[in-house]
Amino acid sequence: MGHQLFHGTVIHSRGPAELIILESALLIVDANGKITNLIEDISRDKVSVLLSALEIPTSPENVRYLPRGQFIIPGFVDTHNHAPQWAQRGLGQSMHILDWLEKVTFPNEARFRDPEYARRVYTSCVDGFLKQGITTASYYGSLHAEATNILADICLAKGQRALVGKCNMNRNAPDYYRDASVESSLKDTEACIEHIRRIDPESKLLKHVLTPRFAISCDPELLDGLGKIAAANQDLPIQTHFNEAEQEMNFLQELFPQFKGSEADLYEHYGLLNERSILAHCCHMTEYEMGRLKELDCGVAHCPVSNMTVGGGFMAAPVRDFLRRDIKVGLGTDSGGGFSSSILDAMRQALVASNAREVMSQGKDKGLDIGELFYLATLGGAKVCGLDTKVGNFEVGKEFDGLIINADGLGVMTMLEHEDSTRTIFDKFVMTGDDRNIKEVYVCGSQVWA
Ligand code: GUN
Ligand code: FE
Repeated sequence: MGHQLFHGTVIHSRGPAELIILESALLIVDANGKITNLIEDISRDKVSVLLSALEIPTSPENVRYLPRGQFIIPGFVDTHNHAPQWAQRGLGQSMHILDWLEKVTFPNEARFRDPEYARRVYTSCVDGFLKQGITTASYYGSLHAEATNILADICLAKGQRALVGKCNMNRNAPDYYRDASVESSLKDTEACIEHIRRIDPESKLLKHVLTPRFAISCDPELLDGLGKIAAANQDLPIQTHFNEAEQEMNFLQELFPQFKGSEADLYEHYGLLNERSILAHCCHMTEYEMGRLKELDCGVAHCPVSNMTVGGGFMAAPVRDFLRRDIKVGLGTDSGGGFSSSILDAMRQALVASNAREVMSQGKDKGLDIGELFYLATLGGAKVCGLDTKVGNFEVGKEFDGLIINADGLGVMTMLEHEDSTRTIFDKFVMTGDDRNIKEVYVCGSQVWA
């Protein structure tokens, strides 16, 4: 594969308040999938002169010119996603979290003991997320090492960038779906770490992510063992659920009274809270825990769709407050918990949640705007996953994970009108587009969906 060149509208984010819209840009990607140039403003007739000056070995005919209504954005980052829940989405909505786990989720995830079943569901799952523009996902697997390795194989084969974790859970789950012992849980985790290091030795696309489901489902010895693996493997991210819902928080307090209700203190005690931590939900946060997350540089996976459907109650995480304090935050679909596996829907629901927060805070925490939602879905998520030096936007030197959007006349998104500005077209896509508007998907320069 030689260089790839795209000319037209390029939209990306440099920060929560830095939405960049380039209407006549030239994006150049080299044979290794790296972005070598982003010329911000160049008319079509100047492209060929520029290419000779840059000594790029290609001819102007190879430039892909995007018409009005099409544009390029960075791939979406899904910071929290349960792959085994792909086939249970939509079930058990409005149940409280522990009841939902027992009645819907554990029986479903137990099926992944069968590798054939795992292969079938995970193939559909990875395809389903790729077609929705999710170029990076942080996946929870089931507790099974074999199925988790299959998920990693499928991500690699299909070209999706992914953090993949064997889920650790050895208590407060039924006999048929629980790690047999602390030792077996840790041994299976080590095996999954090894597997990913074998199939992707340079971590081009994959990393194992340490995945204690949540403290309720892990004995202290298991948390301790995972903390030791985290200390010995500084390259591995860590993910867990954090202050999601009252039912979970109350039970956790019963199990670990010594931490006086602070999940931050609990995970920190076991060596699981640091700049590599991806904390899902964070709906109920004390001032103290906000401070700890900032000091330890943890990332938050905001999952607004599941927070308002599964879990118990209407949970609107304080995203404006995270941004104000410069705590890393991105979006998660959560997959099973909720009605949608789309990051576009997560963006819209994040808007709704932030509007609720504005009311709850008597106007102190303003609702999010579209530029902020887009940041969360791209660069914000990349930061949470520790991948922002590689992806998240189109800075020169990063790898090209991008989507070609066709906003013109496809699906049911708001129709375009002649007078629409590029910004208007972008807003229409973010608020009303869906996978039908995602025309092509690239990861590290390779086309992985069309
Ligand atoms: N807490 C522990 N497990 C889960 C899960 O699968 N989904 C959600 N939303 N919360 C959890
Ligand atoms: Fe979850």
